[in-house]
Amino acid sequence: MANIESVLQENRVFPPSEEFVKKATISGMAAYEALAKEAEQDFEGFWGRLAREHILWHKPFSQVLNESNHPFYKWFEDGQLNASYNCLDRHLKTQPKKVAIIFEADDGSVTKITYEQLYHRVCQFANGLKKLGIKKGDRVLIYLPMAIEAVIAMQACARIGAIHSVVFGGFSAKSVQERIVDAGAVAVITADGQMRSGKEIPLKPAVDEAFAMGGCDAVKHVVLYKRTGSPIHVHAPRDVWWDDVVRDEPDVCEPEWVSAEHPLFILYTSGSTGKPKGVQHSTGGYVLHSILTMKWTFDIKPTDVFWCTADVGWVTGHTYISYGPLACGATEVMFEGVPTYPDAGRFWHMIQEHKVSIFYTAPTAIRSLIKLGADLPKKYNLSSLRLLGTVGEPINPEAWMWYHRVVGNERCPIVDTWWQTETGAHMITPLPGVVPTKPGSCTLPLPGIMAAVVDETGGDVEKGKGGFLVIKRPWPSMIRTIWGDPERFKNSYYPAELGGKYYLAGDGANRDLDGYFWIVGRIDDVLNVSGHRLGTMEIESALVANPLVAEAAVVGKPHDIKGEAVVAFVVLKGARPAGDAAKEVAKTLRDWVGQEIGPIAKPDEIRFGENLPKTRSGKIMRRLLRSIAKGEEIKQDVSTLENPHILDQLKEAVK
Ligand code: WTA
Repeated sequence: MANIESVLQENRVFPPSEEFVKKATISGMAAYEALAKEAEQDFEGFWGRLAREHILWHKPFSQVLNESNHPFYKWFEDGQLNASYNCLDRHLKTQPKKVAIIFEADDGSVTKITYEQLYHRVCQFANGLKKLGIKKGDRVLIYLPMAIEAVIAMQACARIGAIHSVVFGGFSAKSVQERIVDAGAVAVITADGQMRSGKEIPLKPAVDEAFAMGGCDAVKHVVLYKRTGSPIHVHAPRDVWWDDVVRDEPDVCEPEWVSAEHPLFILYTSGSTGKPKGVQHSTGGYVLHSILTMKWTFDIKPTDVFWCTADVGWVTGHTYISYGPLACGATEVMFEGVPTYPDAGRFWHMIQEHKVSIFYTAPTAIRSLIKLGADLPKKYNLSSLRLLGTVGEPINPEAWMWYHRVVGNERCPIVDTWWQTETGAHMITPLPGVVPTKPGSCTLPLPGIMAAVVDETGGDVEKGKGGFLVIKRPWPSMIRTIWGDPERFKNSYYPAELGGKYYLAGDGANRDLDGYFWIVGRIDDVLNVSGHRLGTMEIESALVANPLVAEAAVVGKPHDIKGEAVVAFVVLKGARPAGDAAKEVAKTLRDWVGQEIGPIAKPDEIRFGENLPKTRSGKIMRRLLRSIAKGEEIKQDVSTLENPHILDQLKEAVK
């Protein structure tokens, strides 16, 4: 517990401007408190009211929450709806010509699509998928670059009740294969390649490789979106081009009405074992929370231009690109490229050109842009901005202050949004027209979210003390289960050690005397590298799968830009390598991890030893490894260490 006590002392407080408060959807502390009180006094009434107000139901629900099979909660279960209908059809009469997505490609070319056009393209593609034999409940793996087509693919699945599972385009063939197998996918939607920083990165070849690994026989079709035009293998009749799939299809498609509990998607994320978890989300609760947080946290208004920079391969891209903004009828920016191409002014240039008013990005991007040009934003006209957001990791107060001063010109509230793949949408975040912010704190839970900090036995800790972040009551957009593994769901999120009652987030946190939450970081073996979740066990399994490796342990170490960097301790089957040989093996292993998982998981440094530091009972002393990785002097008690001499070997990092 001592490890997760924060040492941070941050006393600066930034209340929202009067002008912002006046116009905000939730305006002033009294409004927030009224909502929070409503939720406390009549929990089900509160969520039921919101679900009726914000969602278009095909058939209304009669019961808000069913808790009889704890922790497999059901929300609005007998209600029927369609997620795509809630995102598209609802705007057809009111604002068909409004731009839904402003897409900017890597090379700067811009494509705009209106709500009406998006609706027709989704319908056409949905009809095409149906013709391929894909039906309600089928799993469809999506492996696409950032493109309007990615949104269309997700929406089309939702329209016909198919369950999508999006795999980030930066993940490897092996990851694709594992997810196809685990989800039992019947179709894959991919592209020939993707463009990043002017370079072409192939995608389809990774799918071919995944097939070659075996286990993908359930996949009957691979739909190919042509992005780069590079030659690829087309295995007819299995592989079909997108254009052929939609050709001659009608551009209207009756939505498949599904139960609110029907799975909308599965999204894989890292946990503390080697196998990623297929986080399963519902339709009704998920759509509700994505709408509410667009309105509450982002204060979305009809005139806003909203930009979330995440990739659709992550949950942030799901909720705040593919569903939330569309369900609210917003105009949003979607970007194919990277923030540093053609130069580090790309984000600021795009904000200026598209008159972005709400900008949502990751602390790691902010830190890297500070480094590449702290004054660059001043060269652009950023006066369209009115609200800024961050997500994915704790933001250090220095980066927060820069974002506030240089990007927001001290006018824009910053919403530091804490949430997870499992929570579906924001959980703890300032409401911009309500909560005075403190740099580095995600502040207060949303109304209806019963967040708390508890000790090892599940008891509340005093304010000012650290502990485990939990959510005491279920909420509509929560994870329903881990696909195919309900036991793992129960054990990971409702562990018996804590009494089994509360959702355990896996983060350490503490609350200050004002009740503000400060997230300290993961309490499990999960790293946060550039805002991406990576399990240390996953990387370890990848390393030991290499024929050269006998044993491996992976830990994180603090990194200025990435937040955390991956450090691998490796024992080879042969002798411990030195000099150039060590460099060569390190490169081989780094590339190997890149192939097994994806380039984001490549270790920054590898440290070779004849063995790993272990206790006499054979347990790897991870705490010690973390100290070594940080270059700290070892003050821990190493008397129980079986093999103390290897500590010196491990001090040498091969980069
Ligand atoms: C971390 C991303 C501090 C946290 C939406 C969480 C944060 C994990 C914040 C989830 C924040 C996310 N402040 N830490 N504002 N937001 N995290 O599933 O450790 O990719 O458990 O979801 O990121 O990562 P995931």
